[in-house]
Amino acid sequence: MLVSAKEMLTKAKAGHYAVGQFNINNLEWTKAVLLTAEELKSPVILGVSEGAGKYMTGFKTVADMVKAMIECLGITIPVALHLDHGTYEGCYKCIEAGFSSIMFDGSHYPINENVEKTKELVKICNEKGLSLEAEVGSIGGEEDGVVGMGECADPDECKMIADLGVTMLAAGIGNIHGKYPANWPGLSFETLAAVSEKVGDMPLVLHGGTGIPEDMIKKAISLGVSKINVNTECQLSFAAATRKYIEEGKDLIGKGFDPRKLLTPGFEAIKATVKEKMELFGSVGKA
Ligand code: 13P
Repeated sequence: MLVSAKEMLTKAKAGHYAVGQFNINNLEWTKAVLLTAEELKSPVILGVSEGAGKYMTGFKTVADMVKAMIECLGITIPVALHLDHGTYEGCYKCIEAGFSSIMFDGSHYPINENVEKTKELVKICNEKGLSLEAEVGSIGGEEDGVVGMGECADPDECKMIADLGVTMLAAGIGNIHGKYPANWPGLSFETLAAVSEKVGDMPLVLHGGTGIPEDMIKKAISLGVSKINVNTECQLSFAAATRKYIEEGKDLIGKGFDPRKLLTPGFEAIKATVKEKMELFGSVGKA
């Protein structure tokens, strides 16, 4: 069932677990995430970056594929289709294409402009029943062309944005997209605790879910994180499994070159990664 992320995240915040956002790139990715969520009876958020939307030929293709797949696979768990790190223009395109949730990443604007644009999007999302994620501070590293310096969020600015009525808030707490460098100092729980205290019941979002140690994930959830984004880890699992298949020469045996065979190990690897994350985040059985 395609729904906004509001109810699943409100429940997650109250129940002290987190819902995973898994970024999708193509049909295999989407099918792997949806089937795993259904098997585990977990709510799920499908994340689509602007780059991935473009790759899949446009947001309308993505929205129509996801809706059709939910129907054809008989998916009963709540699924949100969410724009990841959206530009102002991208947000409008996804609203029109039929997404159920959007993220407006206004973190690179001066705070007043971030507030003005977010306010406008809150109004339209409320009218249309979509959930809206906003960002304060920034996530380090690069997410599909969106580059951040990784500055920690100012808790007062977080409150300012939360008070506009967004559904969930991504606050920079030292998290980074992609692999973490060996000298990464870890998440700033001090910032997270201060933000959490300011924004009360607002579900918080942890970007850069790949490679964060389990104890840090659990602590972040205990401090109010209710949505965790994972992208790179599924890409790495997919690539490793596909490499293994080809290196073992399996594409050369019989019809092993058939894409439905060639892509199966990668598909299974994505499923295994998603399962592992859902178990860690505590969302299993919460649909
Ligand atoms: P990773 O690629 O580090 O898992 O981050 C994903 C993310 O935060 C998407 O917004």
